[in-house]
Amino acid sequence: MRTIDWVDGAVELVDQTLLPDKCVMLRVSTVAELVAAIRRLAVRGAPALGVAGALGAVVADGDPALVAELFAARPTAVNLAWGVDQAVAHLDEGPEAALAAALRVRDDDIAACVAMGERGAALLEGDRLRIMTVCNTGGLAAVERGTALGVVQTLHERGRLAEVLALETRPLLQGARLTTWELARMGAPHRLIADSAGPYLLARGEVDAVLIGADRIAANGDTANKIGSYALALGAERAGVPFIVVAPESTIDEHTPTGDQIEIEDRGADEIVSVRGVRVAPEGTRALNPAFDVTPHDLISAIVTDQRVIRP
Ligand code: MRU
Repeated sequence: MRTIDWVDGAVELVDQTLLPDKCVMLRVSTVAELVAAIRRLAVRGAPALGVAGALGAVVADGDPALVAELFAARPTAVNLAWGVDQAVAHLDEGPEAALAAALRVRDDDIAACVAMGERGAALLEGDRLRIMTVCNTGGLAAVERGTALGVVQTLHERGRLAEVLALETRPLLQGARLTTWELARMGAPHRLIADSAGPYLLARGEVDAVLIGADRIAANGDTANKIGSYALALGAERAGVPFIVVAPESTIDEHTPTGDQIEIEDRGADEIVSVRGVRVAPEGTRALNPAFDVTPHDLISAIVTDQRVIRP
């Protein structure tokens, strides 16, 4: 199953807001529908957003207002704007050329995820690895297989995975809803943990490596990823556990010098004061909701891309 694809002249994507209860494909044929799907996280994860941006630019057919809406749909993952740019660069050669460029983004992502899985698995030492991860970086965050969870899948296929500890990833529960769903489908042993348990379980010696994805990697290696990643990096440093970022080259943003310049999306109070539509805080409670954080490069042991291993 592909998370996002171009089928008979429209974008088809898995509506991730309905998982794990239902796996439903959504068919999207206007930019307005695609932007809405991106904003409500029906499609999410940096590589999948890159493909959404590229296919969305084809749907926009050169209309600058629609292209601008795509760029602005979510700010942190550089892949979205990068994907839009890939297709827009070919629009003056005609819609077929733009579509071919967008399909290359899709196909390159599939190949990149296979390459990252290989390279990440080769980097890790040991045969019975206990991996900790946050958010969802699997096939649902890309087209197939994914980044950090793609490495986990490769380890599992080779009999080298003991267990995954998956952080639930409040507020939108990508870990609890999506990562567990993917791990169960691949038959990989896993347990779900509260986000706040991550650093303590690292300190207790229960993890061999932390593997995370990235939404934007600044030129100096500072890495924006799902909120909670920074706390894991601090815990991993203290515990002497490798903290590894897995992301395609398209997530590296050479135009952003350091993490300080990365725009962090704030998704508003509703997601914090309620859980899946049920209010858990007193009415009128104010909240702060940064969707991502930035891990400074000196806390990162290695960045694994589809082409190389970078040690900041
Ligand atoms: O808000 P989301 O679900 O789009 O956030 C996704 C993440 O933070 C992922 O870790 C990141 O995009 C890398 S996905 C391979």
